[in-house]
Amino acid sequence: MYYNNILETIGNTPLVKINNITKELPCIVVAKLEEFNPGNSVKDRIGIKMIEDAERTGRLKPGGTIVEGTSGNTGMGLALPAIIKGYRCIFVTTDKQSREKMDMLRAVGAEVIVCPTNVGPEDPRSYYSVSKRLSTEMPNSFYPNQYDNLSNRAAHYESTGPEIWEQTESKITHFVAGVGTGGTISGTAKYLKEKNPNIKIWGIDTYGSVFKKYHETGEFDTKEIYPYITEGIGEDILPANVDFSLIDHFEKVTDKDAFLMTRRISKEEGILAGNSSGSALSGLLQMKDELKTGDLVVVLFADHASRYTGKAFNDEWMRERGFLDSKPVTALDILNRKDAGLISIDMVSLFLPGHKEHIWQHYIPNGQE
Ligand SMILES: Cc1ncc(COP(=O)(O)O)c(C=O)c1O
Repeated sequence: MYYNNILETIGNTPLVKINNITKELPCIVVAKLEEFNPGNSVKDRIGIKMIEDAERTGRLKPGGTIVEGTSGNTGMGLALPAIIKGYRCIFVTTDKQSREKMDMLRAVGAEVIVCPTNVGPEDPRSYYSVSKRLSTEMPNSFYPNQYDNLSNRAAHYESTGPEIWEQTESKITHFVAGVGTGGTISGTAKYLKEKNPNIKIWGIDTYGSVFKKYHETGEFDTKEIYPYITEGIGEDILPANVDFSLIDHFEKVTDKDAFLMTRRISKEEGILAGNSSGSALSGLLQMKDELKTGDLVVVLFADHASRYTGKAFNDEWMRERGFLDSKPVTALDILNRKDAGLISIDMVSLFLPGHKEHIWQHYIPNGQE
């Protein structure tokens, strides 16, 4: 058996139980691992859907150019179908996005334009404005607009929701997901609530985003907007894809908690997930008093750790932002530990950080060869 092209491998991502981090919770928590999509994120689901809906309605014509404002993952979700179907891609992103994401977009043939993060959405330099302008001025171009294009949430209504319902054998009680465009949570929630209206839908928001306050008070409060580091979730606009009526609660998570949890997910669960997955699991732990025995929680992990090797998984970057207190570990630190005899060390520096000389050392526990 084989697939006819890479697009046929989108979806049907696995659910994997979280075993260690959620030990203190009274219920089962499983993660929906969207990194198993071919572009390594949940956005593969919406890329193909927005393109095929646009083809059907004549908004995207043969040989056309796809112009999108994207933090990276949607770009990849659009770029893969563009390769198979023969479209050109121009992506507009912000200077806060991971270098890895931009490099990967270029690797799949896209042109990437980087805009400043700390300007308002109406500013002509913002990535919303630049992408809109490019799409109106470029001939034969299509602007998917993942924020307001309802094909986004429809993709999740058609795929993510049914998959979760079937994979949990209709036992799911809570669905937790980070909210950016709102497509993932709203489409999945619509399907799940149609099946069982008692399923709780919890959206994960960032400090610096408008969602939580808007949901709770109906007020779009510009004082809620300030810079933050977490990528992919939280917004300074209200995208049409967020259906606030389907979301029972928004939980805000700090950058620090999100980054530290992202690292714990890889170290304690062996799951290489991205930064917003750390936010989602952290947010769930903040909500632990709302959970009871017998609950089955599905947390959506939106993308892969490889997109964040220069950030969450870079100790120096983490320390510079005050997210890590520990000093760099040297071989001397390890050798000085009481249990050093149990450790084998290859090719490490025996000197303190900053020292230029390195020696290659193989330490043989208890003198054994
Ligand atoms: C890494 C990551 N997590 C979560 C989200 C949020 O998903 P949605 O836009 O469907 O709300 C995004 C969206 O850009 C993302 O890139």
